[in-house]
Amino acid sequence: MPKFYLTTPIYYPSGKFHIGTAYTTALASTIKRYKKARGFDVYMLTGMDEHGQKVQKVAEGRGKTPQEHVDEMADEAKKLWSLMEIEYDDFIRTTEERHTKVVEEIFDRLMEQGDIYKSEYEGWYCMPCETYFTETQLVDGKCPDCGREVKKMKEESYFFNMKKYADRLIKFYNDNPDFILPESRKNELFNNFLKPGLEDLCVSRTSFDWGVKVKKDQKHVVYVWLDALTNYITALGYLSDDDSLMKKYWPADLHIVGKDIIRFHGLYWPIFLMALDLPLPKQIYAHGFIMMKDGKMSKSKGNVIYPEPLIERYGLDAFKYFILREMSFGQDGTFTPEGFVERFNFDLCNDLGNLLNRTIGMINKYFGGEISSYPAEVSELDKELEEFSNNSIKQVEEQFDTYHISNAITETWNLVSRTNKYIDETAPWVLFKEEKTEELKSVMYHLVENLRRIAILINPYMKHTSEKMLNQLNIPEELRTWDSLADYDKLVNIKVTDKPEVLFARLETEPEIEVIKEMMKWKKLLL
Ligand code: MSP
Repeated sequence: MPKFYLTTPIYYPSGKFHIGTAYTTALASTIKRYKKARGFDVYMLTGMDEHGQKVQKVAEGRGKTPQEHVDEMADEAKKLWSLMEIEYDDFIRTTEERHTKVVEEIFDRLMEQGDIYKSEYEGWYCMPCETYFTETQLVDGKCPDCGREVKKMKEESYFFNMKKYADRLIKFYNDNPDFILPESRKNELFNNFLKPGLEDLCVSRTSFDWGVKVKKDQKHVVYVWLDALTNYITALGYLSDDDSLMKKYWPADLHIVGKDIIRFHGLYWPIFLMALDLPLPKQIYAHGFIMMKDGKMSKSKGNVIYPEPLIERYGLDAFKYFILREMSFGQDGTFTPEGFVERFNFDLCNDLGNLLNRTIGMINKYFGGEISSYPAEVSELDKELEEFSNNSIKQVEEQFDTYHISNAITETWNLVSRTNKYIDETAPWVLFKEEKTEELKSVMYHLVENLRRIAILINPYMKHTSEKMLNQLNIPEELRTWDSLADYDKLVNIKVTDKPEVLFARLETEPEIEVIKEMMKWKKLLL
């Protein structure tokens, strides 16, 4: 079985997770379910990035020790991932010994090799980003990444010799044009950082102590990004007694990250790996941000909406549907209450829910809930639908394979619309009146077959809806698999439920928008 190692970023426990953080994780879990359905042995890693000055400050602000704080946050994170049914295989925390021990060792080894050397650092430091900038990198004297105040700081530091590996990385980029997705992000990294020449990177701090200590120089703490990035291999047991997972799953097939952290993943991480003589990840995908009307949704700004109230009121599937559909490949997407209610009512309730309900209603009314098998004769309209449906499957797979999840969803909904249109075109109620029983049966067969396919196609991100659909149609197990999408004539003795259940109950637009606006006022930034 081919393997597929997939990771999310490890999150800072600096505030309660909002739907932006939930998005990355839901995206990864969707890709995992898809890959599994396609026969891959998938291993998915997520976790928490628990060190650094920012976390230390947040803990202090709450009157807790950093360890107490991160322990609580890790529990919260796991609760949320369980509510969202995230199918991760491991949850790594950078404060765990299995991680810290190896970070110490890696740092030591890189020092021994001469890749890390001691010097002095002076620069402009952005605390929220935990990053130093040179004078020229600042934008209007502020942090080029987050736009906040920076402070001039000087400290004795260890540096990583990036220059030594820069040419190898340039060659790697050239030899592997799909290494960074989307291409525009790759070009940015290439043109803005690699081409002008990489600066050596400061990889230790003395200004705070919440982190992994440098083994041979204990007043230095390992730079939080060197610490954090290595999670992708420490979780697999790199340099530990049992490194069987490392042997099995490394290199990663896909690192999913937000566009704000692609620089760390696309430049520093591959170079650290080169220095450790390890193969580089196959692909890194940088997604866009979930925006609010006033800019990026972020823990520090507080303009957030949390996943929990949305899931509680509208269900997990509707929540995942919205966030995954709204975010086009590599682009930003916007959360608005209006948009959410509209998608719920139109896409889920009208388009998908009604298609299922109408179909089940008609089969019950016209045939007592039963139809036997693939019709002996098919009409032009049937053929057209079948072709459209076959093509939709191809498109959806192509989009999933290239991680264009939003497009995969759109393609699926095109099939939903096309199937709805087929009902209008074939007008089953007329066929019934005119007693064209064989034709009517054929139409019902095609409807069930396409609903079956749609249910399978949405399964990676809407598991419950998918199962409800397949159950109401009484589809046998062997025709619920991804492979069975290729079939179109295998259904026999279909017996649909006589108690159809509504998939999504229509929302009253205006009052519902108000409900979501209330949820957005829930400014509970910490636990
Ligand atoms: N700890 C680092 C990652 C280390 S990975 C070795 C970090 N943590 S974070 O908590 O600040 O962000 C984690 C991820 O959430 C990032 O990929 C970031 O892009 C993503 N998001 C944070 N806000 C987001 C939105 N509003 N929308 C989409 N994703 C967002 O960075």
